[in-house]
Amino acid sequence: MIGPLFPLLRPLLMGLDAETAHGATIRALKLLPATAPPADDPRLKAHCAGIDFPNPVGLAAGFDKHAEVYRSLPGLGFGFVEIGAVTPKPQPGNPRPRAFRLAADEAVINRYGFNSDGVEAMRQRLLDAPPRGIVGINLGANKTTEDRAADYEVLVRRLAPLAAFVTANVSSPNTPGLRSMQTRALFDDLLARVVAARDETCAGGRRTPVFVKIAPDVTDAELDDITAVTLARGIDGMIVSNTTISRPPDLREQALAGETGGLSGRPLFRLSTMVLARTALRLEGKVPLIGVGGIDSAETALVKLAAGATLVQLYSALIYKGPGLVGTIKAGILDAIKRRNTTLAGLIGADMAEIAAGRF
Ligand code: FNR
Repeated sequence: MIGPLFPLLRPLLMGLDAETAHGATIRALKLLPATAPPADDPRLKAHCAGIDFPNPVGLAAGFDKHAEVYRSLPGLGFGFVEIGAVTPKPQPGNPRPRAFRLAADEAVINRYGFNSDGVEAMRQRLLDAPPRGIVGINLGANKTTEDRAADYEVLVRRLAPLAAFVTANVSSPNTPGLRSMQTRALFDDLLARVVAARDETCAGGRRTPVFVKIAPDVTDAELDDITAVTLARGIDGMIVSNTTISRPPDLREQALAGETGGLSGRPLFRLSTMVLARTALRLEGKVPLIGVGGIDSAETALVKLAAGATLVQLYSALIYKGPGLVGTIKAGILDAIKRRNTTLAGLIGADMAEIAAGRF
């Protein structure tokens, strides 16, 4: 229902500051009756980390941070939804303003800093209203925690049984020191403990897949370590990527480009897709990938698949193009499957080497 209304709502939302507009969108989704997900063409079915997805297009983390509207989101056509980030203890995040639309660039800069109601509030919401469709949970550490890996262990213990998958997010640029968790020794310790917590928590029951989400700002040497540790620790999937701390020189909204935080949307597409392909080349199909960063069309989603992604996610482009974009992307993927006389799996990794080298 919110889809057809978007052209009317867009000017109103664009008149509000980014966080207020987001709050209004969440309130609207809470008020509107949840609709059944549209039936997807069976050729869009995807299989990843032991889960069957009705289609490969997901909502990225950060939209439903507090688990308020996850039951409405499958009705917009998403094949899966990632809620959170959630931290163990409630925390307010950074002071406002902390989200900025770079409209001419179709981009966003955010420095929310994991504002979270905390793990117990999220757990209760999920118990009170069990998810519809496939809902994963993005996990983050509290700002002032001393043992960050212990935060992820707590989150896995409390939430893994309620989630389709959990994501250890070690790539938000807005929690000081968090991204150092991507360095070899810390990453290895984190993954060992997260996997052990999952195995303990899910003993005898369903083994909740554990994903890790990385930054697009990692060097090739860091990526060597990240992928080696991911393989060695038996991680079920990698999400590439989070927002970037870099600022492409051709950003048009120069007045906002200097805001501290992570940049997402169209200007992130090339960087995140190159890192995705470089990750895919290193993992050699042994760990599935979820491609995210700058998807704003069927064409950009298809490039993520060609770079090696089994699934894709998006967020920023929805702010500019509205939820109708989800259906457009799915239709374009289906069209490519038909035109090339192939399957969804047949599109995955078709151009990894070219994309990794920046030739796209
Ligand atoms: C995010 N993103 C994010 N990622 C994450 O792992 N945990 C989080 O809590 C958030 N929060 C968040 C808030 C806002 C306002 C934005 C715009 C983004 C990152 C997001 O999931 C995604 O990785 C990037 O935004 C890149 O995708 P898009 O937006 O270019 O499609």
